[in-house]
Amino acid sequence: MEKKKIGFELLIFQDEKELSQNEQKLLRDAAVARENAYAPYSKFRVGAAVLLENGEVVIGNNQENASYPSGLCAERVAIFHAGAKYPGVAVKAIAICASSSNHEVEVPAAPCGNCRQSIMEYEQKQNTPITLLMQSEKGPIYKCRSMADILPLAFNSSFLGDS
Ligand code: THU
Repeated sequence: MEKKKIGFELLIFQDEKELSQNEQKLLRDAAVARENAYAPYSKFRVGAAVLLENGEVVIGNNQENASYPSGLCAERVAIFHAGAKYPGVAVKAIAICASSSNHEVEVPAAPCGNCRQSIMEYEQKQNTPITLLMQSEKGPIYKCRSMADILPLAFNSSFLGDS
């Protein structure tokens, strides 16, 4: 039997001034995108901003639906928006900002499992890491080097064969 420990490095910043100018801007873009979230049911608003290799920033926010499962998370709206607008352009980073009108969210909200899987597809396709930045309304900022770090043993197209 072999035992393998899989871990990852989570960087925690107490002040956004510790981040690069580009990172600060991307977080601001995500916070602005959050303003247009459509979250009448959960009251949990999420904005996401995707930075592409060509310097463009593409945003998304959660879009809910009276038929709950029909809605979509901010991260997938943003990453699919990027794929639709700039196909083939690598994604460098995604910033995610969440807040709730029901309570104070103090811990950065990390992407749900479906969003991790969707972002992972892009990371594997481009074969370079996608950095993640996460922040709520107040509190620290979390930074991860790569989606693979928070989705270990990911399912990917290689399992489907012929690639
Ligand atoms: N949500 C996101 O936008 N991103 C996540 O990673 C987790 C959850 C949204 C979906 C739904 O509109 C609301 O937050 C509550 O789950």
